[in-house]
Amino acid sequence: MLEVVRRAADGARVGVVGRTGSGKSTLASWLSRSLSETASTAILDADPGQGRIGPPGTIGLGFESGRGTSLRALWFVGATSPARHLLDMAAGLVRLARRADRSGVRFMVVDPPGFLDFPAGHAFHLRLIEVLELDHLVALDATALEPVLASLRRRRRPAVHELRPSPAVVERSRAARREWRVARFRAALAGARSRTVPPEIPVHGHLPDRDQEWSGRLVGLLDRDGFLLRLGVAEGPTAHGLKVCVPALDLDEVSAVAVGTGRVDPLSPCRTIDSRKRRSSDSSAPGPSGTPYRS
Ligand SMILES: Nc1ncnc2c1ncn2[C@@H]1O[C@H](COP(=O)(O)OP(=O)(O)OP(=O)(O)O)[C@@H](O)[C@H]1O
Ligand SMILES: [Mg+2]
Repeated sequence: MLEVVRRAADGARVGVVGRTGSGKSTLASWLSRSLSETASTAILDADPGQGRIGPPGTIGLGFESGRGTSLRALWFVGATSPARHLLDMAAGLVRLARRADRSGVRFMVVDPPGFLDFPAGHAFHLRLIEVLELDHLVALDATALEPVLASLRRRRRPAVHELRPSPAVVERSRAARREWRVARFRAALAGARSRTVPPEIPVHGHLPDRDQEWSGRLVGLLDRDGFLLRLGVAEGPTAHGLKVCVPALDLDEVSAVAVGTGRVDPLSPCRTIDSRKRRSSDSSAPGPSGTPYRS
């Protein structure tokens, strides 16, 4: 299969699809590293839940080199599942793929989430294949993917390569997956503090209906091209703009704040400080509660 992909003279886009924990990321990473030995190769990490390039709630583009994967761009999705963010995902896939093309990469390997629930997950996969105009599809575990593969059989592209998942694959528990997400969020929010985004910077996306629902929402501070500059946590609207908990950045570089549906309230470093302060002055104040991430 590697040779088939390599023979593509004018570049090729390869997607690795399969159910959750079937070994997609491991195979995608091997493929992109192998392809990068002969030509410039990008990896499009399209999994906003267990992605390897960016923090949860985002999808990302990395370039492969002998020294590993270097981050090129991140796109804010706004939750760890694509289910309520299909347009956010589609827009991000198109923008990240175009960025890879503009940089002149020859191969792009796509690592999507294992979102295969019927029917939404199947529709999602078909649209992802369409939007990215994949040339090759590596299907890990064809049984789980059958409805998707059936819709592709009479198509010219992508060429489908069916593989059985490796028997060595170790399925991670829900708890382990959650732990991974929490650690990635913590790393992305390290050093964050409360900042007020002035009203001249627009706020868009999945805006909450009521003011109380702002607190804990995942937000993305976007650069002037629409890519993610910093991930943050909304605290709430104030008379001077939207208060967010975010790592250091120059607000002049921010073009907009995108609001997601994911909630990361208990993980917000600003909230931990606030609640500690509150607890020392009011012993009955509640500490952080709820699940670390609901979506
Ligand atoms: N060929 C293999 N040999 C040995 N271990 C493997 C192999 N492929 C995957 N694994 C292991 O199985 C686990 C799951 O693999 P991986 O993360 O690649 O799956 P995934 O389909 O991307 O999962 P997710 O849906 O969570 O993104 C990992 O711990 C990985 O190291
Ligand atoms: Mg994966």
